[in-house]
Amino acid sequence: MERSEAREFWNQRYLEEPWPEEPSPWLVTLLDRLGDPGRVLDVAGGTGRNALFLAAHGWTPTIVDASDVGLGLARRRAEELGLPLTTLRRDLQREPLPEGPWDLALVFHYLDRDVLPTVSQVLRPGGRLVGAIATVRNLERHPRPPRPYLLDEGELPGLLPDVELLDYREGWFDDRHEARFFAERPSC
Ligand SMILES: C[S@@+](CC[C@H](N)C(=O)[O-])C[C@H]1O[C@@H](n2cnc3c(N)ncnc32)[C@H](O)[C@@H]1O
Repeated sequence: MERSEAREFWNQRYLEEPWPEEPSPWLVTLLDRLGDPGRVLDVAGGTGRNALFLAAHGWTPTIVDASDVGLGLARRRAEELGLPLTTLRRDLQREPLPEGPWDLALVFHYLDRDVLPTVSQVLRPGGRLVGAIATVRNLERHPRPPRPYLLDEGELPGLLPDVELLDYREGWFDDRHEARFFAERPSC
């Protein structure tokens, strides 16, 4: 996708059909291992299903995303639920990640091979990173996401050179082939 297209594409996508509101099962599984609630950055967090799940468990979330429509939906749902939420509209191909330090960062179903390796830089020492991104094998069952947004098999650890992987799984989960990761920025 060309640099200026992300906002238009995702605005249209979010207007056309509802996005799931349920959090990622991977994030739900990890909830008890995330540490004490603090500040969490949801990178390309869209309509906020994961950020709001954490807000309901005491975290203070910020979503950064290119889509003002997605962020508007997230803010509306946060208001309905009475949960805290900050949103920042940024095209991460052109603008930097919001400075931290963040206690936790999420990267779910957003693949930018320039951005992903830099997420650790906005974490505090000891901060954590959680995410899931589909791999190329997902095409065996689903036409989308298309190839440019899919990881090669076994590619993900090489995109996270500055963190320690605490848990890493790659396989079919709920009919999707994903790389699921849980990592920590070393304390020193
Ligand atoms: C597949 S959706 C995933 C949304 C959310 N992480 C989730 O799992 O529900 C991809 C998200 O990435 C965002 N996105 C795509 N390109 C972007 C860019 N260059 N900068 C910021 N956000 C971007 C889109 O607006 C969209 O919300």
